[in-house]
Amino acid sequence: MCGIVGYVGSREATPILLEGLKRLEYRGYDSAGIALLNGKNVSVVKQPGKVRELEKAIKVSPISATCGIAHTRWATHGSPNLPNAHPQMSTDGTIALVHNGIIENADALRVQLQKEGYLFVSETDTEVVVKLIDLLWMEDTLLEEAVAAALRQVEGAYGIAVVSSRDSNKIVAAQNGSPLLIGVGQEGEVLCGSNAAAVISLTREVVYLDDGDYAVLEPSGFRTYHLSGTEVARSVYQVTWDLESVEKGGYEHFMLKEIFEQPETLRNVMRGRLLEEEGDVRLGGIRDHAKELAEVRRIVMTACGTSWHAGLVGEYMLEEFARIPVNVEYASEFRYRHPVLEEGTLNLAISQSGETADTLAALKEAKQAGSDTMGVVNTVGSTIARHTDFGIYLHAGPEIGVASTKAFTSQLVALTLFTLYMGRRRQMSVLQGREVVAALQELPDLVEEVLQLNDEIRDLAQHFKDARNFLYLGRGYQFPVALEGALKLKEVSYIHAEGYPAAEMKHGPIALIDDDMPVVFLAPRDSVYTKVVSNIEEVKARQGRIIAVVSDNAPELKGKVDHMIRVPHTIPSLLSVLTTVPLQLLAYHMAVIRGANVDQPRNLAKSVTVE
Ligand code: M6R
Repeated sequence: MCGIVGYVGSREATPILLEGLKRLEYRGYDSAGIALLNGKNVSVVKQPGKVRELEKAIKVSPISATCGIAHTRWATHGSPNLPNAHPQMSTDGTIALVHNGIIENADALRVQLQKEGYLFVSETDTEVVVKLIDLLWMEDTLLEEAVAAALRQVEGAYGIAVVSSRDSNKIVAAQNGSPLLIGVGQEGEVLCGSNAAAVISLTREVVYLDDGDYAVLEPSGFRTYHLSGTEVARSVYQVTWDLESVEKGGYEHFMLKEIFEQPETLRNVMRGRLLEEEGDVRLGGIRDHAKELAEVRRIVMTACGTSWHAGLVGEYMLEEFARIPVNVEYASEFRYRHPVLEEGTLNLAISQSGETADTLAALKEAKQAGSDTMGVVNTVGSTIARHTDFGIYLHAGPEIGVASTKAFTSQLVALTLFTLYMGRRRQMSVLQGREVVAALQELPDLVEEVLQLNDEIRDLAQHFKDARNFLYLGRGYQFPVALEGALKLKEVSYIHAEGYPAAEMKHGPIALIDDDMPVVFLAPRDSVYTKVVSNIEEVKARQGRIIAVVSDNAPELKGKVDHMIRVPHTIPSLLSVLTTVPLQLLAYHMAVIRGANVDQPRNLAKSVTVE
């Protein structure tokens, strides 16, 4: 989710690039860097942290140039430090490259390049690409030819921009899976960027590259090619959005954008990790810890809020498929309650931000007691990621809306991957493993289908906008979803909501039910479906207003529920992903209709770094 901007023309490039970077900073702010072509040199300035740090460094020794590329980083490979900041350079300093995405065959390419004598100074997959361009650049050929030759060997997702003093006053840009567009500037200038926000101060005319395209940008204009070398024509579009909405990709709020990003973020968390034939997974972050993981007798998950809910789904999965006892603890309770951590206990910390103070403190507590520690974390290089012994990254990109949405579904999938890993090394059969892998592979498309319910759910929100309370009920894998649905509604719409195990309702909360109480039932067709139908009858008998989230026509519920939201069907554990999405949309639309500040709800912070 890094941000890229490039400029070639007749004006000073630095202020244009810095302005573009500031507009892209929401995509990541681990480090920022710029490469400028001035005369026969490539000058590079990089700084850890935000764009303003880069700006300060440039002010100290300004560089005059009319061509350059710049980058703001959200770390995926390697910690957020200076050597890993972009641009990454060829060894002789003549080629500079910025990248957004993940190169899947980076390890194999690095080995190949090392055999050719290349030394690496960063841990990034990006450095592999720039060194490959250098290797493949034949005498008397152009920069674009070398870039295309390298990209033909690269697997994975990338949006890149490259400059070189060996073929100066041009930028070569390319896209495959990570967006990169061209900004058609005034006569004599061309720009490129990760999205329109990067270029909009100079132009509203943009050209979107297709996957597998590369483009050559020069002051005289631009040309677009397919990787095979064939020139292709790409249309020019007019950007009609205002700047703020461009940064939100055309969505009204970050929360909605992040809900709609989920098909992509789910593809990212699985990318390169599924082994279809073996019904297994390849997890780079835990690969070297097979011995510790084989000795695990119990897993204690520690987390807060939404991440804690994800842990509950993880508990059900690990116990079902890997037969390992799991406890899910509120990190804030765990740290003060003298827990018993016997030998063979693995502490698994789950955190989107990787900075939550309670989760970090619980992790330190577990470490001190001698447990191995593992992280399921979104933010690369965050404190929790650094303090755990090993882990799995979510690769969901920065989550800006305070209400966690895409990180939650990525956590569910990351925990499914971990379950497959543990299960297949214990008692889970190849066939079972293949079934889960197949379900994972189709999951992003199924989430796309669920997102098509958006209008229907907006109408439903309109219907319930004046409700003062909500109850969310589910059983099995759907119980944590009920908790998460209630939390989302509370956070963004300020409506009181409770999540409960559906069968527990009759032990107390049933007293709340009357014709003024909307009850959301999670009722997909799983092993407890018929039990949930009985719970629905109990609420209906007391005039509760029922919304049921189902996974087929649910004929048993005809006449018993007021509203039905139908999601596609999949295996029970992954139904938790599909039933979560409508609840995110319901919370979002309720909040918008009620005029709440969706992205920054009152009293909340994105990352809770205090006790
Ligand atoms: O960054 P973390 O996952 O550690 O954050 C934990 C909670 O603070 C977080 O999930 C919080 O509950 C969200 N606002 C939920 O939407």
